Amino acid sequence: MSGKIIVIGSMNADLVVHSPRMPQIGETLTGSRFQVNAGGKGLNQAVAIAKLGGSASFCGCVGNDSNGELLLNELKGSNVDFKGLKTSEAPTGIAMITVIDGNNFIILDPGANEKLTPEVVEEYSGLIAESDFCVMQLEIPVKTVLKVCEIAEKSDTKILLNPAPYKELPDEIFTKIDYIIPNEHEAYDLTGVYPDNEENTEKAILKLRQKGAKNVIITLGERGCSYNIGDEIIFKPALKTEVVDTTSAGDTFIGGLVSSLSQNKTLSDSVDFATKASAITVSREGASKSIPYADEIE
Ligand code: RIB
Repeated sequence: MSGKIIVIGSMNADLVVHSPRMPQIGETLTGSRFQVNAGGKGLNQAVAIAKLGGSASFCGCVGNDSNGELLLNELKGSNVDFKGLKTSEAPTGIAMITVIDGNNFIILDPGANEKLTPEVVEEYSGLIAESDFCVMQLEIPVKTVLKVCEIAEKSDTKILLNPAPYKELPDEIFTKIDYIIPNEHEAYDLTGVYPDNEENTEKAILKLRQKGAKNVIITLGERGCSYNIGDEIIFKPALKTEVVDTTSAGDTFIGGLVSSLSQNKTLSDSVDFATKASAITVSREGASKSIPYADEIE
């Protein structure tokens, strides 16, 4: 039986165009394959958990508009139970995504995600307390993340924080985090050490542990990831695959990881599963729609 997971985070409509290259200032370039997709790091991670065998509820905030409907339908279609707010005070979050050679460049207008306040999440204290895992990112206010950590601390709920996009965090938050999962840029912003080789990656992991995080997993893009089991540092290479669109590869990794942990698998087995799942995601277009189902993973 799998444990309960709650994701507290963002939901965005992703406006995507593929481009041959970056435009110069003032230049108009012709792109292709325009799409409006359901996305947002929170929504993608919740959908990933559900598709990859876990049981997820999701607490977020959308605007009272057609993009909001698109996102709520995506959650419903993926069997993710939506909690939270539909607000008239702000539009649904928007991510403008340009994909060049499979790599994504994202500009976010958080819109309604900013309305996910500590007061809103407090209404779900009971649900947070009865969950085994709580997954968050930083496309919502930091004070909300801190509030959830305080609620979770009173129960046995384990906190996984994906510090994306980077925002400054209060020192006291780190001791409340069971798993912190930054990518290489976020690891640099958090520690001042860029994990560009094994030695620096170990240093960045150590710094995050010294801040108080119990488990650190740094995702390193096409180089794979690195994590600690106690004092041991492990490097896990990525799987070789054709790169079509990297959008939501990190979200798939996190969804796969927590989904596997919630089924009482070990951290190494869960990292292996997450690595396989995110390799499939990068071989497909889109955000939540590119995430594979558990039965697609060998
Ligand atoms: O991690 C990918 C996501 O980041 C996209 O879906 C976009 O909405 C941004 O939040």
